[in-house]
Amino acid sequence: MPASSLTPTTNAPTPAAIPSGLDLTNRLGEGERTDASLSELARGAVGSEILKIAAEIRALRAAGASVCNLTVGDFEPALFPIPPSLLEGVRKALADGHTNYPPSDGVLALREAVVRYYQRELGLRYPVDSVLIAGGARPLLYGAYRTLLDPGDVALYPVPSWNNNHYAYLAAARGVPLPVHADSNFFPTVEQLRPHLGGARLLLLNSPLNPTGTVIDPAALAAIARAVVEENARRAAAGRKSLWLVYDQVYWQLTHGSVRHTTPVALVPEVAPYTVMLDAASKSFAATGLRVGWAVMPPAVRRKMADILGHVGAWAPKAEQVAVAALLDDPVTIRAHHERMIGGVRERLAVLAEGFAAMRRDGYPVDALAPQGAIYLSARVSLPGRKNEDVRKWLLQQAGFAAVPFQAFGLYEETGWFRLSVGAVSLDDLRAIFPRLRAVLPRA
Ligand SMILES: Cc1ncc(COP(=O)(O)O)c(C=O)c1O
Repeated sequence: MPASSLTPTTNAPTPAAIPSGLDLTNRLGEGERTDASLSELARGAVGSEILKIAAEIRALRAAGASVCNLTVGDFEPALFPIPPSLLEGVRKALADGHTNYPPSDGVLALREAVVRYYQRELGLRYPVDSVLIAGGARPLLYGAYRTLLDPGDVALYPVPSWNNNHYAYLAAARGVPLPVHADSNFFPTVEQLRPHLGGARLLLLNSPLNPTGTVIDPAALAAIARAVVEENARRAAAGRKSLWLVYDQVYWQLTHGSVRHTTPVALVPEVAPYTVMLDAASKSFAATGLRVGWAVMPPAVRRKMADILGHVGAWAPKAEQVAVAALLDDPVTIRAHHERMIGGVRERLAVLAEGFAAMRRDGYPVDALAPQGAIYLSARVSLPGRKNEDVRKWLLQQAGFAAVPFQAFGLYEETGWFRLSVGAVSLDDLRAIFPRLRAVLPRA
Protein backbone atom coordinates (compact mmCIF):
# COMPACT_ATOMS: atom_id res chain seq x y z
CA MET A 1 0.00 0.00 0.00
CA PRO A 2 1.53 3.43 -0.93
CA ALA A 3 2.37 5.56 2.09
CA SER A 4 0.18 8.40 0.80
CA SER A 5 -3.04 6.30 1.20
CA LEU A 6 -2.43 6.18 4.95
CA THR A 7 -2.19 9.94 5.26
CA PRO A 8 -5.50 11.52 6.39
CA THR A 9 -6.97 13.86 3.80
CA THR A 10 -7.61 17.39 4.89
CA ASN A 11 -11.38 17.29 4.22
CA ALA A 12 -12.05 14.16 6.43
CA PRO A 13 -14.81 14.92 8.99
CA THR A 14 -13.49 15.86 12.39
CA PRO A 15 -15.32 14.58 15.51
CA ALA A 16 -16.71 18.05 16.01
CA ALA A 17 -18.49 17.82 12.64
CA ILE A 18 -20.60 14.82 13.76
CA PRO A 19 -24.02 16.13 14.78
CA SER A 20 -24.69 15.56 18.45
CA GLY A 21 -28.06 15.09 20.07
CA LEU A 22 -29.82 13.96 16.89
CA ASP A 23 -33.19 12.89 18.26
CA LEU A 24 -34.47 9.79 16.43
CA THR A 25 -37.50 9.27 18.67
CA ASN A 26 -39.97 10.39 16.01
CA ARG A 27 -38.05 9.00 13.04
CA LEU A 28 -38.36 5.28 13.77
CA GLY A 29 -41.40 4.48 11.66
CA GLU A 30 -45.10 4.23 12.38
CA GLY A 31 -46.29 1.38 14.59
CA GLU A 32 -48.84 -0.23 12.27
CA ARG A 33 -46.85 0.16 9.10
CA THR A 34 -43.72 -1.27 10.69
CA ASP A 35 -45.74 -4.08 12.20
CA ALA A 36 -47.13 -5.05 8.79
CA SER A 37 -43.63 -5.51 7.39
CA LEU A 38 -42.39 -7.86 10.13
CA SER A 39 -42.07 -11.62 9.67
CA GLU A 40 -45.15 -13.78 10.18
CA LEU A 41 -43.33 -15.36 13.13
CA ALA A 42 -42.78 -12.01 14.83
CA ARG A 43 -46.33 -10.84 14.14
CA GLY A 44 -47.81 -13.94 15.72
CA ALA A 45 -45.46 -14.08 18.73
CA VAL A 46 -47.00 -13.55 22.16
CA GLY A 47 -44.92 -12.18 25.03
CA SER A 48 -44.98 -13.42 28.61
CA GLU A 49 -48.45 -13.19 30.17
CA ILE A 50 -46.82 -12.92 33.58
CA LEU A 51 -44.86 -9.81 32.61
CA LYS A 52 -48.12 -8.13 31.64
CA ILE A 53 -49.49 -8.76 35.11
CA ALA A 54 -46.23 -7.41 36.58
CA ALA A 55 -46.85 -4.12 34.76
CA GLU A 56 -50.34 -3.87 36.32
CA ILE A 57 -48.85 -4.46 39.77
CA ARG A 58 -46.26 -1.74 39.25
CA ALA A 59 -48.99 0.71 38.24
CA LEU A 60 -51.11 -0.13 41.32
CA ARG A 61 -48.14 0.22 43.65
CA ALA A 62 -47.17 3.52 42.05
CA ALA A 63 -50.71 4.68 42.87
CA GLY A 64 -50.09 3.82 46.54
CA ALA A 65 -51.88 0.43 46.79
CA SER A 66 -50.47 -2.34 48.97
CA VAL A 67 -50.01 -5.47 46.83
CA CYS A 68 -48.93 -8.94 47.91
CA ASN A 69 -47.07 -10.00 44.78
CA LEU A 70 -47.28 -13.77 44.32
CA THR A 71 -46.77 -13.62 40.56
CA VAL A 72 -43.02 -13.75 40.01
CA GLY A 73 -41.34 -17.11 39.47
CA ASP A 74 -38.18 -15.54 40.83
CA PHE A 75 -36.36 -14.82 44.10
CA GLU A 76 -35.92 -11.61 46.00
CA PRO A 77 -32.14 -11.76 46.64
CA ALA A 78 -32.48 -10.21 50.13
CA LEU A 79 -34.81 -13.10 51.11
CA PHE A 80 -33.27 -15.90 49.03
CA PRO A 81 -29.60 -15.13 48.30
CA ILE A 82 -27.31 -17.30 46.19
CA PRO A 83 -24.73 -19.36 48.13
CA PRO A 84 -21.99 -16.92 49.33
CA SER A 85 -19.27 -19.11 47.79
CA LEU A 86 -21.01 -18.79 44.39
CA LEU A 87 -20.97 -15.01 44.66
CA GLU A 88 -17.32 -15.11 45.66
CA GLY A 89 -16.59 -17.58 42.86
CA VAL A 90 -18.07 -15.24 40.21
CA ARG A 91 -16.07 -12.29 41.59
CA LYS A 92 -12.87 -14.33 41.59
CA ALA A 93 -13.43 -15.73 38.10
CA LEU A 94 -13.92 -12.21 36.74
CA ALA A 95 -10.80 -10.99 38.56
CA ASP A 96 -8.90 -14.00 37.16
CA GLY A 97 -9.70 -12.81 33.64
CA HIS A 98 -12.63 -15.02 32.63
CA THR A 99 -14.08 -12.16 30.62
CA ASN A 100 -13.74 -13.55 27.10
CA TYR A 101 -15.91 -15.97 25.10
CA PRO A 102 -16.48 -19.36 26.70
CA PRO A 103 -16.55 -22.39 24.39
CA SER A 104 -19.99 -22.12 22.76
CA ASP A 105 -21.07 -25.50 24.18
CA GLY A 106 -19.84 -24.71 27.69
CA VAL A 107 -16.65 -24.56 29.76
CA LEU A 108 -15.24 -28.09 29.99
CA ALA A 109 -14.78 -27.81 33.78
CA LEU A 110 -18.51 -27.16 34.17
CA ARG A 111 -19.52 -29.97 31.83
CA GLU A 112 -17.32 -32.33 33.87
CA ALA A 113 -18.74 -30.96 37.13
CA VAL A 114 -22.29 -31.65 35.88
CA VAL A 115 -21.25 -35.27 35.21
CA ARG A 116 -19.98 -35.64 38.79
CA TYR A 117 -23.01 -33.77 40.23
CA TYR A 118 -25.53 -36.08 38.54
CA GLN A 119 -23.52 -39.16 39.49
CA ARG A 120 -23.31 -38.07 43.12
CA GLU A 121 -26.83 -36.62 43.59
CA LEU A 122 -29.01 -38.50 41.08
CA GLY A 123 -27.06 -41.74 40.69
CA LEU A 124 -26.77 -41.24 36.91
CA ARG A 125 -23.48 -41.53 35.02
CA TYR A 126 -23.57 -39.58 31.75
CA PRO A 127 -20.47 -39.12 29.55
CA VAL A 128 -19.20 -35.55 29.30
CA ASP A 129 -20.16 -35.62 25.60
CA SER A 130 -23.78 -35.70 26.76
CA VAL A 131 -23.62 -32.37 28.58
CA LEU A 132 -24.49 -29.05 26.94
CA ILE A 133 -24.27 -25.72 28.76
CA ALA A 134 -26.36 -22.65 27.87
CA GLY A 135 -27.56 -19.35 29.30
CA GLY A 136 -30.18 -20.90 31.60
CA ALA A 137 -32.76 -23.57 30.86
CA ARG A 138 -34.71 -21.42 28.39
CA PRO A 139 -32.30 -21.69 25.43
CA LEU A 140 -32.01 -25.43 26.05
CA LEU A 141 -35.78 -25.85 25.91
CA TYR A 142 -35.88 -23.78 22.74
CA GLY A 143 -32.91 -25.77 21.42
CA ALA A 144 -34.73 -29.05 22.11
CA TYR A 145 -37.75 -27.92 20.10
CA ARG A 146 -35.54 -26.74 17.22
CA THR A 147 -33.28 -29.79 17.24
CA LEU A 148 -35.95 -32.47 17.52
CA LEU A 149 -38.91 -31.15 15.51
CA ASP A 150 -39.68 -30.24 11.93
CA PRO A 151 -42.39 -27.67 11.17
CA GLY A 152 -45.80 -29.26 11.68
CA ASP A 153 -44.51 -32.03 13.97
CA VAL A 154 -46.56 -32.64 17.08
CA ALA A 155 -45.28 -31.47 20.48
CA LEU A 156 -47.43 -33.05 23.17
CA TYR A 157 -47.55 -31.42 26.59
CA PRO A 158 -49.87 -31.23 29.57
CA VAL A 159 -51.46 -27.91 30.49
CA PRO A 160 -50.98 -26.08 32.72
CA SER A 161 -47.25 -26.10 31.98
CA TRP A 162 -44.61 -23.46 31.49
CA ASN A 163 -44.25 -21.83 28.06
CA ASN A 164 -44.63 -24.96 25.90
CA ASN A 165 -47.28 -23.12 23.89
CA HIS A 166 -44.77 -20.36 23.11
CA TYR A 167 -41.87 -22.70 22.25
CA ALA A 168 -44.13 -24.83 20.03
CA TYR A 169 -45.12 -21.65 18.22
CA LEU A 170 -41.50 -20.54 17.73
CA ALA A 171 -40.57 -23.97 16.32
CA ALA A 172 -43.63 -23.97 13.98
CA ALA A 173 -44.59 -27.23 15.70
CA ARG A 174 -48.17 -28.31 16.21
CA GLY A 175 -48.68 -27.98 19.95
CA VAL A 176 -51.11 -30.53 21.38
CA PRO A 177 -52.02 -29.43 24.92
CA LEU A 178 -53.56 -32.05 27.20
CA PRO A 179 -55.52 -30.52 30.10
CA VAL A 180 -54.62 -32.13 33.43
CA HIS A 181 -56.40 -31.68 36.73
CA ALA A 182 -55.98 -31.81 40.48
CA ASP A 183 -57.21 -35.43 40.61
CA SER A 184 -53.93 -36.57 38.95
CA ASN A 185 -51.83 -34.01 40.83
CA PHE A 186 -51.74 -32.01 37.57
CA PHE A 187 -49.67 -34.65 35.73
CA PRO A 188 -50.80 -36.66 32.73
CA THR A 189 -51.34 -40.38 33.18
CA VAL A 190 -50.06 -42.93 30.67
CA GLU A 191 -53.68 -43.78 29.80
CA GLN A 192 -54.33 -40.16 28.94
CA LEU A 193 -51.15 -39.88 26.85
CA ARG A 194 -51.35 -43.22 25.04
CA PRO A 195 -53.85 -42.23 22.31
CA HIS A 196 -51.63 -39.26 21.38
CA LEU A 197 -48.16 -40.87 21.45
CA GLY A 198 -48.40 -42.47 18.00
CA GLY A 199 -48.78 -39.07 16.31
CA ALA A 200 -46.32 -37.12 18.45
CA ARG A 201 -42.60 -36.39 17.94
CA LEU A 202 -41.97 -34.76 21.30
CA LEU A 203 -43.46 -35.24 24.76
CA LEU A 204 -42.64 -32.61 27.36
CA LEU A 205 -42.82 -33.19 31.10
CA ASN A 206 -41.73 -30.94 33.97
CA SER A 207 -41.41 -32.01 37.61
CA PRO A 208 -41.56 -30.40 40.16
CA LEU A 209 -44.12 -28.59 38.06
CA ASN A 210 -44.38 -24.92 37.34
CA PRO A 211 -47.14 -23.69 37.95
CA THR A 212 -48.66 -26.22 40.37
CA GLY A 213 -45.85 -27.05 42.83
CA THR A 214 -46.66 -30.76 42.47
CA VAL A 215 -44.22 -33.63 41.88
CA ILE A 216 -44.82 -36.56 39.54
CA ASP A 217 -45.38 -39.95 41.14
CA PRO A 218 -42.49 -42.35 40.26
CA ALA A 219 -44.89 -45.13 39.18
CA ALA A 220 -46.74 -42.73 36.85
CA LEU A 221 -43.44 -41.48 35.40
CA ALA A 222 -42.12 -45.02 34.90
CA ALA A 223 -45.31 -46.01 33.06
CA ILE A 224 -44.94 -43.02 30.73
CA ALA A 225 -41.24 -43.76 30.13
CA ARG A 226 -42.09 -47.40 29.29
CA ALA A 227 -44.76 -46.24 26.84
CA VAL A 228 -42.18 -44.02 25.11
CA VAL A 229 -39.79 -46.99 24.84
CA GLU A 230 -42.54 -49.23 23.40
CA GLU A 231 -43.60 -46.55 20.92
CA ASN A 232 -39.99 -46.20 19.76
CA ALA A 233 -39.60 -49.95 19.35
CA ARG A 234 -42.61 -49.88 16.98
CA ARG A 235 -41.17 -46.89 15.13
CA ALA A 236 -37.73 -48.48 14.75
CA ALA A 237 -39.40 -51.55 13.17
CA ALA A 238 -41.37 -49.30 10.80
CA GLY A 239 -38.39 -47.02 10.03
CA ARG A 240 -40.18 -43.98 11.53
CA LYS A 241 -38.56 -41.07 13.38
CA SER A 242 -38.36 -41.38 17.16
CA LEU A 243 -40.64 -39.98 19.81
CA TRP A 244 -38.51 -37.76 22.10
CA LEU A 245 -39.01 -37.04 25.77
CA VAL A 246 -37.95 -33.72 27.26
CA TYR A 247 -37.85 -33.83 31.05
CA ASP A 248 -37.50 -30.38 32.58
CA GLN A 249 -36.18 -30.73 36.11
CA VAL A 250 -35.09 -27.17 36.92
CA TYR A 251 -36.76 -27.34 40.35
CA TRP A 252 -35.55 -30.83 41.25
CA GLN A 253 -33.51 -29.81 44.29
CA LEU A 254 -36.55 -28.04 45.75
CA THR A 255 -38.79 -30.85 46.97
CA HIS A 256 -40.52 -30.72 50.33
CA GLY A 257 -40.84 -33.16 53.21
CA SER A 258 -40.79 -36.83 52.24
CA VAL A 259 -41.43 -36.08 48.54
CA ARG A 260 -38.53 -37.21 46.31
CA HIS A 261 -37.58 -36.24 42.79
CA THR A 262 -37.09 -39.02 40.26
CA THR A 263 -35.94 -39.08 36.64
CA PRO A 264 -37.34 -41.14 33.77
CA VAL A 265 -33.89 -42.51 32.90
CA ALA A 266 -33.28 -43.79 36.45
CA LEU A 267 -36.66 -45.56 36.45
CA VAL A 268 -36.47 -46.89 32.89
CA PRO A 269 -32.88 -46.73 31.54
CA GLU A 270 -34.11 -47.88 28.08
CA VAL A 271 -35.67 -44.42 27.61
CA ALA A 272 -32.24 -42.68 27.80
CA PRO A 273 -31.62 -42.76 23.99
CA TYR A 274 -34.77 -40.66 23.53
CA THR A 275 -34.50 -38.34 26.54
CA VAL A 276 -33.24 -34.80 26.99
CA MET A 277 -33.14 -33.62 30.62
CA LEU A 278 -33.00 -29.88 31.33
CA ASP A 279 -31.64 -28.22 34.43
CA ALA A 280 -30.12 -24.93 35.63
CA ALA A 281 -28.60 -23.09 38.55
CA SER A 282 -31.50 -20.63 38.22
CA LYS A 283 -34.02 -22.12 40.63
CA SER A 284 -32.07 -24.66 42.70
CA PHE A 285 -29.51 -22.02 43.72
CA ALA A 286 -31.80 -18.96 43.55
CA ALA A 287 -29.46 -17.78 40.78
CA THR A 288 -31.96 -16.73 38.09
CA GLY A 289 -29.81 -13.75 37.09
CA LEU A 290 -26.58 -15.70 36.62
CA ARG A 291 -27.90 -17.48 33.52
CA VAL A 292 -26.28 -20.90 33.75
CA GLY A 293 -28.19 -23.96 32.56
CA TRP A 294 -27.28 -27.43 31.40
CA ALA A 295 -28.89 -30.39 29.69
CA VAL A 296 -27.95 -34.05 29.30
CA MET A 297 -28.91 -36.04 26.22
CA PRO A 298 -27.52 -38.52 23.69
CA PRO A 299 -24.20 -37.12 22.32
CA ALA A 300 -25.49 -37.13 18.72
CA VAL A 301 -28.36 -34.83 19.73
CA ARG A 302 -26.02 -32.67 21.82
CA ARG A 303 -23.72 -32.01 18.86
CA LYS A 304 -26.57 -30.64 16.75
CA MET A 305 -28.18 -28.68 19.55
CA ALA A 306 -24.77 -27.14 20.32
CA ASP A 307 -24.46 -26.04 16.67
CA ILE A 308 -27.89 -24.41 16.72
CA LEU A 309 -27.47 -22.68 20.09
CA GLY A 310 -23.91 -21.65 19.16
CA HIS A 311 -25.32 -19.56 16.32
CA VAL A 312 -27.91 -18.03 18.63
CA GLY A 313 -25.07 -17.10 21.00
CA ALA A 314 -27.07 -18.51 23.89
CA TRP A 315 -24.04 -19.50 25.95
CA ALA A 316 -23.77 -18.84 29.67
CA PRO A 317 -21.37 -16.10 30.85
CA LYS A 318 -17.89 -17.57 31.34
CA ALA A 319 -17.15 -16.38 34.89
CA GLU A 320 -20.54 -17.69 36.06
CA GLN A 321 -19.81 -21.06 34.46
CA VAL A 322 -16.46 -21.30 36.27
CA ALA A 323 -18.13 -20.44 39.59
CA VAL A 324 -21.05 -22.87 39.11
CA ALA A 325 -18.54 -25.65 38.29
CA ALA A 326 -16.90 -25.13 41.70
CA LEU A 327 -20.31 -25.06 43.44
CA LEU A 328 -21.52 -28.33 41.88
CA ASP A 329 -18.40 -30.03 43.26
CA ASP A 330 -19.14 -28.79 46.79
CA PRO A 331 -21.84 -31.02 48.34
CA VAL A 332 -21.44 -29.49 51.81
CA THR A 333 -22.26 -25.98 50.57
CA ILE A 334 -25.09 -27.32 48.39
CA ARG A 335 -26.68 -29.10 51.34
CA ALA A 336 -26.38 -26.08 53.63
CA HIS A 337 -27.83 -23.83 50.92
CA HIS A 338 -30.80 -26.10 50.33
CA GLU A 339 -31.57 -26.51 54.00
CA ARG A 340 -31.80 -22.75 54.37
CA MET A 341 -33.56 -22.12 51.08
CA ILE A 342 -36.09 -24.94 51.28
CA GLY A 343 -36.79 -23.96 54.90
CA GLY A 344 -37.73 -20.45 53.78
CA VAL A 345 -39.80 -21.68 50.83
CA ARG A 346 -41.68 -24.29 52.90
CA GLU A 347 -42.43 -21.83 55.69
CA ARG A 348 -44.04 -19.48 53.20
CA LEU A 349 -45.95 -22.17 51.32
CA ALA A 350 -47.24 -23.50 54.66
CA VAL A 351 -48.59 -20.06 55.66
CA LEU A 352 -50.45 -19.89 52.34
CA ALA A 353 -51.74 -23.49 52.46
CA GLU A 354 -52.93 -23.13 56.06
CA GLY A 355 -54.51 -19.73 55.36
CA PHE A 356 -56.53 -21.16 52.46
CA ALA A 357 -57.47 -24.29 54.45
CA ALA A 358 -58.78 -22.09 57.30
CA MET A 359 -60.81 -20.00 54.85
CA ARG A 360 -62.27 -23.14 53.32
CA ARG A 361 -63.29 -24.43 56.77
CA ASP A 362 -64.99 -21.08 57.36
CA GLY A 363 -67.09 -21.49 54.22
CA TYR A 364 -65.15 -19.41 51.67
CA PRO A 365 -65.08 -20.74 48.09
CA VAL A 366 -61.36 -21.48 48.06
CA ASP A 367 -59.10 -24.52 47.94
CA ALA A 368 -55.35 -25.25 47.85
CA LEU A 369 -53.17 -28.28 47.11
CA ALA A 370 -50.51 -29.46 49.55
CA PRO A 371 -47.20 -28.11 48.16
CA GLN A 372 -44.67 -30.78 47.16
CA GLY A 373 -41.93 -28.95 45.29
CA ALA A 374 -40.68 -25.80 43.56
CA ILE A 375 -41.78 -22.41 44.96
CA TYR A 376 -45.45 -22.56 44.05
CA LEU A 377 -48.83 -23.28 45.59
CA SER A 378 -51.92 -24.13 43.56
CA ALA A 379 -54.91 -22.25 44.96
CA ARG A 380 -58.46 -22.19 43.69
CA VAL A 381 -61.00 -19.41 43.96
CA SER A 382 -64.40 -20.60 42.70
CA LEU A 383 -66.76 -17.80 41.80
CA PRO A 384 -69.38 -19.39 39.52
CA GLY A 385 -69.93 -17.64 36.22
CA ARG A 386 -66.75 -15.58 36.48
CA LYS A 387 -63.72 -16.18 34.31
CA ASN A 388 -60.33 -16.69 35.96
CA GLU A 389 -58.97 -13.54 34.35
CA ASP A 390 -61.86 -11.47 35.77
CA VAL A 391 -61.33 -12.99 39.21
CA ARG A 392 -57.59 -12.26 38.98
CA LYS A 393 -58.19 -8.59 38.15
CA TRP A 394 -60.86 -8.24 40.81
CA LEU A 395 -58.71 -9.77 43.56
CA LEU A 396 -55.80 -7.57 42.54
CA GLN A 397 -57.91 -4.39 42.64
CA GLN A 398 -60.01 -5.22 45.70
CA ALA A 399 -57.59 -7.16 47.91
CA GLY A 400 -54.11 -6.38 46.55
CA PHE A 401 -53.75 -10.12 45.94
CA ALA A 402 -51.61 -10.72 42.84
CA ALA A 403 -51.61 -14.27 41.49
CA VAL A 404 -51.26 -15.85 38.04
CA PRO A 405 -54.21 -17.79 36.59
CA PHE A 406 -53.43 -21.20 35.07
CA GLN A 407 -54.56 -19.73 31.72
CA ALA A 408 -51.11 -18.08 31.60
CA PHE A 409 -49.75 -21.64 31.36
CA GLY A 410 -51.65 -22.70 28.28
CA LEU A 411 -54.80 -23.97 30.04
CA TYR A 412 -57.97 -22.98 28.22
CA GLU A 413 -60.47 -24.53 30.66
CA GLU A 414 -61.91 -22.18 33.30
CA THR A 415 -61.09 -24.25 36.39
CA GLY A 416 -60.52 -21.42 38.88
CA TRP A 417 -56.91 -22.38 39.72
CA PHE A 418 -54.10 -19.89 40.29
CA ARG A 419 -50.33 -20.12 40.79
CA LEU A 420 -49.01 -18.44 43.94
CA SER A 421 -45.23 -17.97 43.98
CA VAL A 422 -43.37 -17.30 47.23
CA GLY A 423 -39.83 -16.44 46.10
CA ALA A 424 -40.22 -12.70 46.52
CA VAL A 425 -42.52 -12.23 49.55
CA SER A 426 -41.95 -11.96 53.28
CA LEU A 427 -43.88 -14.02 55.81
CA ASP A 428 -45.53 -10.84 57.13
CA ASP A 429 -46.77 -9.93 53.65
CA LEU A 430 -48.22 -13.41 53.27
CA ARG A 431 -50.04 -13.34 56.61
CA ALA A 432 -51.46 -9.90 55.84
CA ILE A 433 -53.24 -11.17 52.74
CA PHE A 434 -55.82 -13.36 54.46
CA PRO A 435 -57.84 -10.64 56.27
CA ARG A 436 -58.05 -8.81 52.94
CA LEU A 437 -59.26 -11.93 51.07
CA ARG A 438 -61.82 -12.68 53.79
CA ALA A 439 -63.14 -9.13 53.55
CA VAL A 440 -63.91 -9.30 49.81
CA LEU A 441 -64.80 -12.93 49.04
CA PRO A 442 -68.38 -14.16 49.53
CA ARG A 443 -69.01 -16.79 52.18
CA ALA A 444 -71.30 -19.77 51.69
C1 LIG B 1 -40.27 -25.22 34.35
C2 LIG B 1 -39.29 -24.20 33.93
N1 LIG B 1 -38.34 -24.53 33.04
C3 LIG B 1 -37.43 -23.65 32.63
C4 LIG B 1 -37.42 -22.35 33.12
C5 LIG B 1 -36.38 -21.39 32.64
O1 LIG B 1 -35.31 -21.31 33.51
P1 LIG B 1 -34.08 -20.33 33.26
O2 LIG B 1 -34.33 -19.11 34.10
O3 LIG B 1 -32.89 -21.11 33.70
O4 LIG B 1 -34.04 -19.99 31.82
C6 LIG B 1 -38.38 -21.95 34.04
C7 LIG B 1 -38.42 -20.57 34.53
O5 LIG B 1 -39.33 -20.11 35.17
C8 LIG B 1 -39.34 -22.90 34.48
O6 LIG B 1 -40.27 -22.60 35.38
